Amino acid sequence: MNADVHLNLETLNQSALKRAMGCFVTGIAVVTTRHDGVDFGMTCNSFNTVSLDPPLVLWSVQRSASSYEAFTRSGGYAVSILDADQDKLVRRFTHGPQEERFAGLPLTRLESGRVVLDGAVAWFDCSLEKSVSAGDHDVLIGRVLDFASQDDGSPLGYGRGEFKAF
Ligand SMILES: Cc1cc2nc3c(=O)[nH]c(=O)nc-3n(C[C@H](O)[C@H](O)[C@H](O)COP(=O)(O)O)c2cc1C
Repeated sequence: MNADVHLNLETLNQSALKRAMGCFVTGIAVVTTRHDGVDFGMTCNSFNTVSLDPPLVLWSVQRSASSYEAFTRSGGYAVSILDADQDKLVRRFTHGPQEERFAGLPLTRLESGRVVLDGAVAWFDCSLEKSVSAGDHDVLIGRVLDFASQDDGSPLGYGRGEFKAF
């Protein structure tokens, strides 16, 4: 990296960087795992596809997240892509005790032991293929073991800090 670019990045205003990154419109997922007999879940918009053959996806987990150990050590994760009518779940899966995040929600437990949220427009169940430490996050590349999607339903979109039905 040349010196000018490096200096620029070091002095960069983080909220301006977040605003610029927020121009990339994503969906919203709740990623889940099961570790030591406990279900963990968090809201995520870093999910993306990587490869069709083999089927690989990724998302990145903050090192400071309370569920970091669970996601990096449990051997896999499931991804529930939220429908627009699940927008209330976005905040719910960002904070608080794990059992409260799932309490009262209709869930399906997959053969892997991980849960997905009923009503999601799509879900993917993945084994952890590879993790790459990158800055304050780890990129978790998963191999898709099982998945489903519904043709109706409106995926929840997220961009510039706003949520919209797609
Ligand atoms: C729209 C949105 C997207 C998010 N995407 C991610 C993400 O991709 N990776 C991540 O680690 N945290 C993401 N977060 C933050 C987590 O949901 C969570 O708040 C944070 O990791 C703290 O989780 P903890 O209570 O499990 O420690 C996102 C939050 C929001 C509101």
